[in-house]
Amino acid sequence: MWSSSGVARVSKFARLVGAAVFYGRFMPSFSRIGYGLRRLGWNRMQADFSGQTWLITGASSGIGRALAVAAAAAGANVLAVARESVHLRDIADGLPAEVAARITALPVDLACIDEVRALVADLAARQTPIDVLVNNAGVLLHEHSLARSGHERSFVINLLSHFVLTQGLLQDAAMSADAVVINVSSGGMYTVPLSIEGLDQRDAQRFSGTLAYARHKRAQVALTEHWQQQMAAAARAASAPGQVGSPARRCYVMHPGWVSTPGVKRSLPVFWKLQRAWLRTPAEGADTILWLCHARPEPIAQRIWFDRRPRPVHLFSVTRQSDCSESALVDWLREQGAV
Ligand SMILES: NC(=O)c1ccc[n+]([C@@H]2O[C@H](COP(=O)([O-])OP(=O)(O)OC[C@H]3O[C@@H](n4cnc5c(N)ncnc54)[C@H](OP(=O)(O)O)[C@@H]3O)[C@@H](O)[C@H]2O)c1
Repeated sequence: MWSSSGVARVSKFARLVGAAVFYGRFMPSFSRIGYGLRRLGWNRMQADFSGQTWLITGASSGIGRALAVAAAAAGANVLAVARESVHLRDIADGLPAEVAARITALPVDLACIDEVRALVADLAARQTPIDVLVNNAGVLLHEHSLARSGHERSFVINLLSHFVLTQGLLQDAAMSADAVVINVSSGGMYTVPLSIEGLDQRDAQRFSGTLAYARHKRAQVALTEHWQQQMAAAARAASAPGQVGSPARRCYVMHPGWVSTPGVKRSLPVFWKLQRAWLRTPAEGADTILWLCHARPEPIAQRIWFDRRPRPVHLFSVTRQSDCSESALVDWLREQGAV
């Protein structure tokens, strides 16, 4: 029989081995090495987003901020969402005046679903539809806590808020006819199958921030599949037989690789310390998002975009075995968010 300290030692050892295998498997590809090698084969992107309205969550820091700046520099009017803070207030500091003028800070706490609903209502009331929605805000929390709604906090920030936001904007026709929705996932999702269980871990004793994060990121992949099918069906229904199809909305899921951001430094300090020389810059992490909005490639089922290419959504056979369907996930999220 194992003593409880023996079991704890074995499970700690197993976690360390798992982490070593995971990071070893993805090291060259997800780091700046992979980015640097792949970009040798890319054409220069001359994106022009003039006249478009972009909504980016998590725009005050890291990848979201780099994306907001790049999109505004390419002509987009950017609505930058994050919590009220000096980072959000000063988001346009140091930028050329004409770029700074195109970024508007929208303080919203995504851990509060009522604030997300208010944001949807506010956006729906505006005359300008959203052309690009980037569901980027994401957190890996090691401390367990509950949001005001009673749900586990990282579940609300990573998944539920973005579900309510996207569903709300699609339902209220607050997005343009050819809008693009991009979900920013993570390579961490490769470690888990899709499952409803554990997405909203309200029991502090059973909470693992890393596992919760991976599950949320896997669920984003499934939601992308759902929204993309919905968008394609709506475009088919809107086009008359024999006529050129009406413009279709598109939904993509991507992951940025390993990027040096305040979020990584805060939630993975050891990884950040060991790898920081090899981490991508935030602008490199945002590159595939910009490219997707510029190139608008045909969406492909069961693919996640990484470094401008569609990649498999499963790399380990164990994650293919899921008892949860996309529609079950959507129904469950509807109940949680009351949408
Ligand atoms: N960096 C990487 O290596 C990496 C790898 C894979 C995936 N990703 C994904 O990329 C995305 C961006 O990550 P990052 O590394 O750039 O993180 P980051 O630097 O920590 O930025 C996260 C952003 O989310 C916002 N945010 C956090 N809690 C919020 C809340 N309650 N309400 C509103 N906004 C909130 C933050 O703003 P405030 O805190 O000021 O509100 C900040 O703007 C995440 O989805 C992450 O999972 C990153």
